[in-house]
Amino acid sequence: MERMPYSEPYKIKTVESIKVLTHQERQAKIKEAGYNLFNLRSEDVYIDLLTDSGTGAMSDKQWSAIMTGDESYAGSKSFFKMKDKIVDLLKMPYVIPTHQGRAAENVLFSALIKEGDIIPGNTHFDTTKGHIEFRNAFACDCTINEASDADNEHPFKGNVDIGQLESVIKQNRSKVPFVVLTVTCNSGGGQPVSMDNIKAVSDTCRKYDITLVFDVARFAENAYFIKTREKGYEDKSITEIVAEMFSYADACTMSAKKDGIVNIGGFIALRSEELYKQCSVFTIIYEGYLTYGGMAGRDMAALAVGLEEVTDFDYLRSRIGQVQRLGKKLQDAGIPIIKPVGGHAIYVDAMKFFPHIPQDQLPAQTLGVELYTEAGVRGVEIGIVLADRDPITRENRKPKFDLLRLAIPRRVYTENHMEVVVWGLKKVHERRNSCKGLELTYEAPIMRHFTARFKKLD
Ligand SMILES: Cc1ncc(COP(=O)(O)O)c(C=O)c1O
Repeated sequence: MERMPYSEPYKIKTVESIKVLTHQERQAKIKEAGYNLFNLRSEDVYIDLLTDSGTGAMSDKQWSAIMTGDESYAGSKSFFKMKDKIVDLLKMPYVIPTHQGRAAENVLFSALIKEGDIIPGNTHFDTTKGHIEFRNAFACDCTINEASDADNEHPFKGNVDIGQLESVIKQNRSKVPFVVLTVTCNSGGGQPVSMDNIKAVSDTCRKYDITLVFDVARFAENAYFIKTREKGYEDKSITEIVAEMFSYADACTMSAKKDGIVNIGGFIALRSEELYKQCSVFTIIYEGYLTYGGMAGRDMAALAVGLEEVTDFDYLRSRIGQVQRLGKKLQDAGIPIIKPVGGHAIYVDAMKFFPHIPQDQLPAQTLGVELYTEAGVRGVEIGIVLADRDPITRENRKPKFDLLRLAIPRRVYTENHMEVVVWGLKKVHERRNSCKGLELTYEAPIMRHFTARFKKLD
């Protein structure tokens, strides 16, 4: 029997108007913004693919949880609702709320990192790296080599090279307090980590008695890829896969703005009571009391529901399906993108898109500016600007790729919006040879991409 096509497992109940500026208006807006897409007002953006973080649409059930959630400093009912859901899903007994993912990193890393430490991982996210380097420690990228080949269709490009990880640990035994595994791997292309690799990383950490921390902003999307790409998991439910994934970790940091489908929030989940006690001190200093940690009660209540919804297979199939379809259309149009397409974003390979623009003239930043000007679509640079300078030499780090990330918010845009994205990139591609690069005119000493300013090269 012919299979019935699937679509979004929800219908649209509330809408927000968006306006379309003229080409000329967009040119003026981006110039005023110092050619930094972060400096644009969101009302001047037509389709906002800057991030999938905190930009998802909440469900009717989440909104009603907002209304019934309580606000309390100590012992909030909403905290326990959220905690119960997290414990049920991740099977980790200690939970600390934080106001977002980087705050969870700040608290946990305050307890774990000291100056000179080395933290191996799979292409650490920028805030993770920032929190490591801020403590004068070093992030060591041990991602598999296949991840640096844009055309390699390896199904789990977020995987760690176990040999490399073990040799880093052996050479620096006393300086490695923990390993951080990001699932899915954001900076590496939204690429998943296989269960087999998660287990191997865990075995290596246990062999050397090293804590394994997961960065789980997109844990459910990772579980979806395990279910659909890894042998032996086809018949398991998403929650079963999630439980197995977390069984290999000692602790995790979560940016709930992604797979929590809330607009703000995060948490730490832990197995060790001792580490929980250490983190509690930093939580109270930096975030707030242990039963709200910088979140309002209503947001914790919405997060409890979001964590339930995000593990629904039909939701994940429609969410990841939208990203995959956009990737396919772009590939068919000859736009160079990282393959295979990851879970939450398309990564356009700007050095291939603009072969005439050298990396120090910022090809991905240039592509972001051109795409906004052409079609009002906002992406974000994941390249030389984001990579910052080496903390010791102060030289620009030159990552292998200069990427424009188009992150798709959860449950927000329709297929027609995606058509506009394809159209915009095609238009820029047609006139690519006439595009010129950019030059930095201002940069902050750390995490410069957020506030940098640029000028157009003649
Ligand atoms: C993998 C990963 N970790 C951590 C963070 C930081 O989370 P937040 O933006 O909530 O501080 C992000 C945000 O994009 C992320 O993608």
